[in-house]
Amino acid sequence: MTFEEAHELIKQTLPEKRYIHTLGVVETAERLADQYGENIEQARLAAMLHDYAKYFDTEKMRQVVIDEGLDPNLLQYGDELLHAPVGAVLLARQYDLDPHVLSAIRNHTTGEPGMSRLDQILFVADAIEPNRNYPGVDRLRTEAEQSLEAAVVATLRQTIEFLLKKSVRIFPLTIDTYNDFVNTP
Ligand SMILES: [Fe+2]
Ligand SMILES: [Fe+2]
Repeated sequence: MTFEEAHELIKQTLPEKRYIHTLGVVETAERLADQYGENIEQARLAAMLHDYAKYFDTEKMRQVVIDEGLDPNLLQYGDELLHAPVGAVLLARQYDLDPHVLSAIRNHTTGEPGMSRLDQILFVADAIEPNRNYPGVDRLRTEAEQSLEAAVVATLRQTIEFLLKKSVRIFPLTIDTYNDFVNTP
């Protein structure tokens, strides 16, 4: 799948606000890939497609988790988590996409211990793209200019603190990812 094909698909699939967010993630992922010496084309493609399933029917996404044998924990921690792994599965079914691109899409919400640099770039770009506006986002942007791994940790901390303040459950993989990246020397 080419970037232009992905762009067309996303323009047709997402509402305008989410499409604008996506363009911001593309721009940011491209910049981070350039800065940290990762594959720019893969970063752009993963960013363009990352929220593909964001507005898909929740019950259908839950069914994909069951049918594909994805982590059953995904059904216990809020439907926000579904679109990343389910989007990766649905895209893989329909299009010819590099496994690195699919991995970045799959991990963009929860993270994953040992996730690749491309995964990290999309994970951080999603949190800091120019249209994002929440307390602490500028600190994350500064971190991302200095160290990709530090930005991953800061983004995980931001996510976990947000969930703690809301008194909602925290997906174990996100905590595992935090522990993994904090322990990385
Ligand atoms: Fe997302
Ligand atoms: Fe996103």
